[in-house]
Formats: sequence, C-alpha cells, structure tokens
Amino acid sequence: MELEAAIEAAGQRMIERLQTLKTISSNKEWLERILFSPAAEEAAYRLKGWMGEAGMEVNYDALTNVTGWRSYAEAGNEAPAIHLGSHYDTVINAGAYDGTLGVVLAIAVADVLNTAGVEMKHNLGVSAFCDEEGVRFQSTFLGSGYLSGQFEKDWLHMPDEYGKTLGEWLVDRAESIDELLAAEPFIRPQDYFLEAHIEQGPVLEAAGRALGVFTNIAAQLRSEVEVIGEAGHAGTIPARLRKDPLPYACEMMLAVNQLCRSDERVRATVGQVEVRPNASNVIPGSVRFTIDLRYPNEAGLTQAHEQLSADLKAIALRSGLEFRYRVVHQAGNVSCDAALTDLLSGACEQEQGDALRIFSGAGHDSMKVAGVCPVGLLAVRCRKGLSHHPDEFASEEDCLMALRVMLKAVLALDRQL
Ligand code: GLV
Ligand code: MN
Ligand code: MN
Repeated sequence: MELEAAIEAAGQRMIERLQTLKTISSNKEWLERILFSPAAEEAAYRLKGWMGEAGMEVNYDALTNVTGWRSYAEAGNEAPAIHLGSHYDTVINAGAYDGTLGVVLAIAVADVLNTAGVEMKHNLGVSAFCDEEGVRFQSTFLGSGYLSGQFEKDWLHMPDEYGKTLGEWLVDRAESIDELLAAEPFIRPQDYFLEAHIEQGPVLEAAGRALGVFTNIAAQLRSEVEVIGEAGHAGTIPARLRKDPLPYACEMMLAVNQLCRSDERVRATVGQVEVRPNASNVIPGSVRFTIDLRYPNEAGLTQAHEQLSADLKAIALRSGLEFRYRVVHQAGNVSCDAALTDLLSGACEQEQGDALRIFSGAGHDSMKVAGVCPVGLLAVRCRKGLSHHPDEFASEEDCLMALRVMLKAVLALDRQL
C-alpha cells in the first residue's frame, strides 16, 4: 500500500481504537482502568490483538504490560531500537486520551510501517505500560519501571487499599517472580524512546497550536498521612474527652492547600481521603489521606516537602494523637533528550509550521524511561487543558497530525542513527 493511504487507514483505525478503549471500564458510570482490574485485562487483550495486526511480535507479562516488537532485517536484536509507547491504565473517572492516545498512536506508527511495507534499519518496540497513574499502589511508573529494567524489589511489598501487596498479586499471575524480575529489559540503554501524550494543560490551546514538544517534566512526590485517634459514640462523649483525628486531619489538609497557594510553582493536592469507620454517629477512629506534591525542579520540591512535613508534624504534636507519615513515591524533574526534542520539533515544524516547546507539570512514563535511554515527548492539544476529567478531549485532526509527526520523527531517527 502507498504510504499516504497507509497513514489514512492506520489513522482511522487509531481513532476507532481510542473509541473502543473509552468503553472498556470497570465502572458503568465513568472510565476507570486500574492495574489488575478486569477492565485493564480486557484492554490489554485488545492491545495485543492490535499489535499483532500491525505485524508485531507480541508479549504480555505478568505485570500486564503489553509489548510489540518488530525486527527489521538489517538490525540484530542488540542494535539500538526505536521505542514508542505510553500507559493504558487510567485514573478514576478518567478521560479517554491520557496515556491511551500515546499507546494507540504508537501502534498506528507500527501499523503504517507494516501496511506500507517500509523497511527500517532499526527494530521497533511498542509499549503499552500497565500502570503509570499509580492508583492501586500509590506508586507510579510500575510498567515503564519494569520494562526499562528499573523495577525495585521493594515494590513487591507495596499494599493496595485491601492490604494485598504487589508481590501477592504477582504470585497469582507470574509462574516465577524471580524469573519475571530477571528478564532482559525490553527498553535498554542503547535504545531511544518517543512518547506522544495530551498536554493536560492549556498552553497549546491558548497558542492556537495542535502540537508542541515537551522539554522538561516536573519533579513529583506522593505521600500518605494517617492520623489515628479513638472511635467512640457520637452522642455521649464531650469534646474534651474525644480523640477525634478528623479536625486535625482537616488542619493538615488546609496546610497542604496553603502551601499550594503560597507559590505559583508548587502544586500540592489532597486527592484521596478516608475516614474510618465513616459512619454518621461514630467519632472517627482514624483518617488517612494522600498528598501529591510537584515542583519544576527537585531542589524546590525538597524544600516545599520539608516545609510541609514540618507543618504536619506541628499539627500532629498539638493533637497528641498518633501520626504516621510515609513517602510512597518520588521522582526528580527530567529533561527530555535535546537531540530527540530537536527531532520531534523538526517533524512538528514540517506539519504545523512551528513547534512550541513547553513544560509538563504532569508526570509521564518518559520520566522513568529517561533513567536508561534518551526520551522525546510530543504534546497534543487538549480542550480547555482538561485532564483527569471525563470531558478530556483531543480532536481527531490533532491526533491524526500527531500520528504524522511521530511517523516522520521515527523515520528521521531511523535514517540518522
Ligand atoms: C499522571 O497523570 C500524573 O501526572 O499524575
Ligand atoms: Mn494521568
Ligand atoms: Mn498520562
């Protein structure tokens, strides 16, 4: 098939696949595809099929990453490969594009090369990472961490909200956890990684541009707070005799908000709160909540975190209650590779006339992969900058333009290397 016809056909399949994945959810009311959920399994099943149709050798690992590999005649397996991908898990009440667009777009690139019969000099890898959002274990990048050989054994001990650890989940899924962890990484130091992702912010829309290129990704930290008091009868115990953790937890949450308001560069969010036992006539026995903290650079993040920890400790001390604080995830800010950024910018300029370089406050698998090989990250405009929201939307035209740009970048990289 002619290249142009192959792009058209693969582009249409890509748009249909986005629509299909939008319907694969654990919840009838909203989109939710959390690691190890039946919906995630179903999505993985579709992804395997699509990668196979795009002429790839497909693998599905016990962590539920789906990968596709296309060997080209000239390249041995050890030669540098070009990798594309993103994540297929979602947050709760998610949009249909976050991560998913990058996955179907990566498959579409493989699809074009396959149907047009393009012979590359380098092998092509496509990854659909199982967990970037970190909803189940609060610790993000499980998929890209594993596939790029950066899985940390400690992760096996992370519990989900039901107390089941990642290791226990894997006992049910992997024939041997040791073998799983000893496997050769899919993405290696000699490789190159390109990801397409919706912007999740308003800059491209405000500039009237469909596409841009991310240059830097903010540092991020997630922590978990628990304040433990004593449950009791709501009708009988006077305030002075209560050990109610809720008012103190509220003060702590306000301190998080205060920090966020104190500096434009800080992002500080309490996104999950659990009051136990959560009954109207029971004084709460404990409160658990999460904090998501971001800053453009690691030094600023550390400083913001130190200030916040001190504020929380002071409140805890005043409460006289038990206070537990745990950092569950931390990632430094990451710069995308300069050469890959230039390459994506060049491809973007050819399609769009220019290439806006922007900063990402959101985290991406590219951050993790950057720990082993160069990464480049293409940004796609999304309506009103909305993300982690059901109204998240990127237009068909913008997604198709992103496919053209990514294809150009892959072919240029293949020629250059
Ligand atoms: C991922 O979407 C993140 O930035 O939390
Ligand atoms: Mn997300
Ligand atoms: Mn994402």
